Amino acid sequence: MVMRSHYCGQLRAEHVGEEVQLCGWVQRRRDHGGVIFLDLRDREGIAQVVFDPDTEASFALADRVRSEYVLRITGRVRARPEGTVNPDMLTGEIEVLGHEIEVLNPSETPPFQLDAWSDAGEDVRLKFRYLDLRRPEMQARLALRARAVSAIRRYYEDNGFIDVETPVLTRATPEGARDYLVPSRTHPGSFFALPQSPQLFKQLLMIGGLDRYYQIARCFRDEDLRADRQPEFTQLDVELSFTDEEEVMTLTENMLRKLFAEVLDVQLPEFPRLTWHDAMSRFGSDKPDLRNPLELVDVADLMAAVEFKVFAGPAKDPGGRVAALRAPGGAVLSRKVIDDYTGFVAQYGARGLAYIKVNDRSAGIEGLQSPIIKFLPAEVVEAVLDRVGAEDGDLVFFGADTFDVVCESLGALRNRLARDLDLIGAGFAPCWVTRFPMFERSREGHLTPLHHPFTAPACTPEDLLADPAKALSRAYDVVLNGYELGGGSIRIHREDMQRAVFEILKLGQEADVRFGFLLDALRYGCPPHGGIALGIDRLVMLMAGAAAIRDVIAFPKTQTASCLMTSAPSAVDAHQLRDLHIRLREAVVREAPAKDGQDGSGKT
Ligand code: AMO
Ligand code: AMP
Repeated sequence: MVMRSHYCGQLRAEHVGEEVQLCGWVQRRRDHGGVIFLDLRDREGIAQVVFDPDTEASFALADRVRSEYVLRITGRVRARPEGTVNPDMLTGEIEVLGHEIEVLNPSETPPFQLDAWSDAGEDVRLKFRYLDLRRPEMQARLALRARAVSAIRRYYEDNGFIDVETPVLTRATPEGARDYLVPSRTHPGSFFALPQSPQLFKQLLMIGGLDRYYQIARCFRDEDLRADRQPEFTQLDVELSFTDEEEVMTLTENMLRKLFAEVLDVQLPEFPRLTWHDAMSRFGSDKPDLRNPLELVDVADLMAAVEFKVFAGPAKDPGGRVAALRAPGGAVLSRKVIDDYTGFVAQYGARGLAYIKVNDRSAGIEGLQSPIIKFLPAEVVEAVLDRVGAEDGDLVFFGADTFDVVCESLGALRNRLARDLDLIGAGFAPCWVTRFPMFERSREGHLTPLHHPFTAPACTPEDLLADPAKALSRAYDVVLNGYELGGGSIRIHREDMQRAVFEILKLGQEADVRFGFLLDALRYGCPPHGGIALGIDRLVMLMAGAAAIRDVIAFPKTQTASCLMTSAPSAVDAHQLRDLHIRLREAVVREAPAKDGQDGSGKT
């Protein structure tokens, strides 16, 4: 039986006079002296249903329904009386005069009012996620996500890409996070890893001759969570053979253009291309928000000869950096705010935050306020102010330290200042970042890949081995509004190069144990290939204007990687553990009775 004739939210003036059957939830019930109004809500919106005492039985029933009761209503659509039209509601020109009412299911009083959800903590909303999902905003976000994924699929299919599924029970696929492991029952003591990405499989598909592959793939990473990270998330994963950077970037850019035009009716602007080096020196970040007009300016050359050691030291050190950041109109910032910023940059390792307040440039040094000008010759101060384009009323901040510390601290301050001074432009500002270094040095001094170890270097294996720290890679990231939306690269397709990279990473014998299947495959005619992966959750978050990817995932996890609704992860029966050949350490067993999954704060 078809239970309804229309969605509540789709009724319009053109339906006036029609008899309709509606199904939905009671958003609100109002008693207006002898007439009962029910706001009935379904996926498409809300319709106002009126019961008057003429329909006695229905009226009595309508009087007893409460919030979130599930009803089926039969009635006739009529124009709202003059003066009661609601222009803020899509259904605001009409109402339904209810004849019959059927309570399909009552509801307990919900733990939060759906139209006052923001008063409820996120923990409550995640525990009762099915109620949270009834909110129109959540419905709209999930519908947007579905439209986006559908447009993406169409684009890749139209361009000759084949959707191939890759395994979820697999070997470790290194992307820099911890693995989620699954114990094997049939192979005692062995574990599957859930994929951090389909990276190796998509490369093997190229060796397998698929030529153009894409997949909307679930990935799993056990890492510290933030607003833009979840332990399981979805990638748009793409790989193609016989290609280069230009082709992958153009295909990706065209997809994003088409997606934003089709789904949001937004024309994306140009995608500027920045080298990693330029991005770091201008923005202190490899994912710069180009809606932010502020830029870092290098001043080491001006500071090398000054006596102020805090600046001269890093200025003379090849691994150091001295940079300035002009805050337009920042001279109004109080001492307390500047102290706050000093504390803020300290989180990124900065040991101080020098500044110059520019009150009146025409007055020379007298027109400036700063704890450091007494250490600097007047002509150096003038040259610095000229270079950053300082005007009266500005404040100029300085960072002096290692290259990494200055980039991280002033890069973060750049974002913070733009937010605080309300300088962030509207709309979408995408860009590409290219020519990353192949490796970065870990705290312990080892070289680790900046992307993954299958990324092709932009040099020969001999040059790579001669000076790995200098080598650049053929990687590219696509950045949107300060978020790393996606990353990819041209891959290594020859065994000698792959071995050279493993050697630099000091994998030794382990390379053959972990990646023997790849090294073997590279010997059987591997085509040159490359690709990219975009985070679907981040993409949809930005398209929806949401604050966290949790808001565009139906059932997300908390910051401590638990699901408050199902209480996962949870303890398992002793016999299940025995089947899996697993014995818990005693300390864990003692602590086990603590209720699982209740510790997630859900906050970032
Ligand atoms: P990468 O590790 O850069 O590259 O991941 C690609 C994109 O996936 C998204 N992403 C995440 N989204 C939500 N939660 C997470 N924990 C998370 N981690 C990553 C980001 C990121 O840009 N195999 C390579 C791609 C390639 O080389 O083709 C890879 O996975 O938006
Ligand atoms: P000090 O001589 O250490 O008191 O520093 C003088 C000024 O320089 C103070 O405003 C400090 O915040 C600032 N400062 C100190 N170290 C650094 C640094 N590494 N980078 C930028 N400013 C600094």
